[in-house]
Amino acid sequence: MKKRVAILISGGGSNMVALARSMGKDHPAKPVLVLSNNANAGGLQKAADLGIPTAIVDHRQFDTRPDFETGLHKALLAADPDIICLAGFMRILSAGFVENWAGKILNIHPSILPLFPGLHTHQRALDAGMAVHGCSVHLVTPELDAGPILGQAVIPVLSADTPDDLAKRLLPMEHQLYPAALKKFASGDQTKVTFP
Ligand code: GRF
Repeated sequence: MKKRVAILISGGGSNMVALARSMGKDHPAKPVLVLSNNANAGGLQKAADLGIPTAIVDHRQFDTRPDFETGLHKALLAADPDIICLAGFMRILSAGFVENWAGKILNIHPSILPLFPGLHTHQRALDAGMAVHGCSVHLVTPELDAGPILGQAVIPVLSADTPDDLAKRLLPMEHQLYPAALKKFASGDQTKVTFP
């Protein structure tokens, strides 16, 4: 029985597309929902074009974060996922929400965790004088960007690099790392994925 995967997005959804396209007939998982907190997320149309059911739970429609998370939880329950992949999802989830899906939520973060949790990771890597940068796929725990690492990809930092240069060079690596980490996770393989 294939694992059911819900993918949460807030924007263009390039990581969602990479994940969805990776889940072919011999893959241990299948995409069952793409959900966005942003009604204008470009990834929603990409998901629809791929034939994946979509949903919007717009955080701006709720008075409080707990109300938003209740709406999010209900939408996810309806899809009954075994795995939830955060893919460019820009809302911080409370400890209570994460604990309701303990051990089932994956995220991709654009840094070599535990370095640079949070935002503006490319600028922070440059400011720190890093020789390398990268991205991490990790299990989501109540602490932000701090859960067990499932895979990491590394790229060199070039002397003339700007934050945008790093983001552009890193994104294709994310599109390789996240699908590889998801496939292992869905198959119950606990070994870490590394690129290169
Ligand atoms: C990516 O850089 C990813 O690392 C971060 O969100 C960015 C946009 O991702 N989590 P996507 O194109 O919306 O998948």
